[in-house]
Amino acid sequence: MIDCTTHRRRFLKFLAGSPLLVLSGPAWFEELLEGADAQSDVPRSPRITAPNEAINVFDFETVAREALPPAHFGYMATGVDDDATLRANREGFSRFQIRPRRLVDVSHVDPSIQLLGSTWKSPIALAPAGSQRAFHPDGEMAAARAAGAKGQLMILSTGTTASVEDVLAAHGRPIWFQLYPTDTWRITQALVKRAEAAGCPVLVLTVDLPAGRNTETERRFARTDTRQCSSCHQPGLQGYVRRKPMFDRLDLTGVGFSSPRLTWDVVRRLKDTMKMKLVLKGLETREDAELSLRHGVDGIIVSNHGGRAEESGRGTIECLPEIVDAVQGRIPVLIDGGFRRGTDIFKALALGARAICIGRPYLWGLAAFGQAGVERVLEILNREFELMMRHAGVASVSKINRSFVLDNRRT
Ligand SMILES: Cc1cc2nc3c(=O)[nH]c(=O)nc-3n(C[C@H](O)[C@H](O)[C@H](O)COP(=O)(O)O)c2cc1C
Repeated sequence: MIDCTTHRRRFLKFLAGSPLLVLSGPAWFEELLEGADAQSDVPRSPRITAPNEAINVFDFETVAREALPPAHFGYMATGVDDDATLRANREGFSRFQIRPRRLVDVSHVDPSIQLLGSTWKSPIALAPAGSQRAFHPDGEMAAARAAGAKGQLMILSTGTTASVEDVLAAHGRPIWFQLYPTDTWRITQALVKRAEAAGCPVLVLTVDLPAGRNTETERRFARTDTRQCSSCHQPGLQGYVRRKPMFDRLDLTGVGFSSPRLTWDVVRRLKDTMKMKLVLKGLETREDAELSLRHGVDGIIVSNHGGRAEESGRGTIECLPEIVDAVQGRIPVLIDGGFRRGTDIFKALALGARAICIGRPYLWGLAAFGQAGVERVLEILNREFELMMRHAGVASVSKINRSFVLDNRRT
């Protein structure tokens, strides 16, 4: 008997061989076959119909792919160029192996962490992701309710489709606000003042996108979408902000969303303007970590935007050690990119990260089942992480250190 997956594969193989096909591209075709974030070694479950049926976070991706229009799924799934950095984020974890210790009492493990003055239930935070109403009608509100219910930090994107005030109320604890600084200081200042007045204690400045990006997979998926997208999406910043409440009542005449002129000067200006702590998101090198310290930055998120900025080919977990070495514990280092398993989280903490952020996994949960999906994604990752703590013989996060990982390129 031939199941429908086999049918689909045969059909796609036929398409790939067809001279009529104008859309084929290696990344696009591979992803249609395997799932955009697929790992070939993870068996795919049949489609789940409720959050509690999920065995691991990948189960939500399958549902999200089916639930979303192709253009929206493509926006979520895309990397840049050949999606090599997207894959490197996952593959990088295999470079590090865990060294568990035995005969330690782990009847009680405490995964809680302290981060810039707050205590959180575990080291898992929701990374900033724009336009969440493209994935579920409740968008950021559902993600915030889920993170609040589970006691996890959330970082809200500048491109949020719900206001910072509403999202703060939905979460119930001070969330962090992520800033795309635009090319106009007046707008930057207005965004910062609004986030501060709302009660955000930390501003996360994303610094990895001022050069623009080449999201080919997103464009290929969009071509397969037969809906009339221009009813929601119009070109330019004016089009982008139509459903983005952070830009309400701001005069955007002549304003560009990103600026290739962005330099360290913006760090100084932001620090002079606000009382919030400042975290830089998107650093990948020791040199930039050292400059961050020199400029009085309060924290770093090692990130390549989930493989959506430049095609460096380097996974973030591989960038982490040089940044931790440069920082020497003076400010907290967080990391995101490809975190899908509790063991990934354990490795990052062992290499010196204070916390990790997830992007796509909670967006899959959101697209699949709204708030309940995000909650279940967090439950699964927390459960896997706590299990790994027990296996490794650590009862609290502060006990996780470099002795628990082996870098197989060095040995
Ligand atoms: C759909 C989507 C939208 C995103 N939007 C933003 C954003 O508005 N601001 C930002 O700093 N990063 C954004 N990111 C990057 C995430 O914050 C994070 O760096 C990345 O998703 C982590 O990788 P992961 O998806 O493999 O977990 C976005 C990522 C995705 C997938």
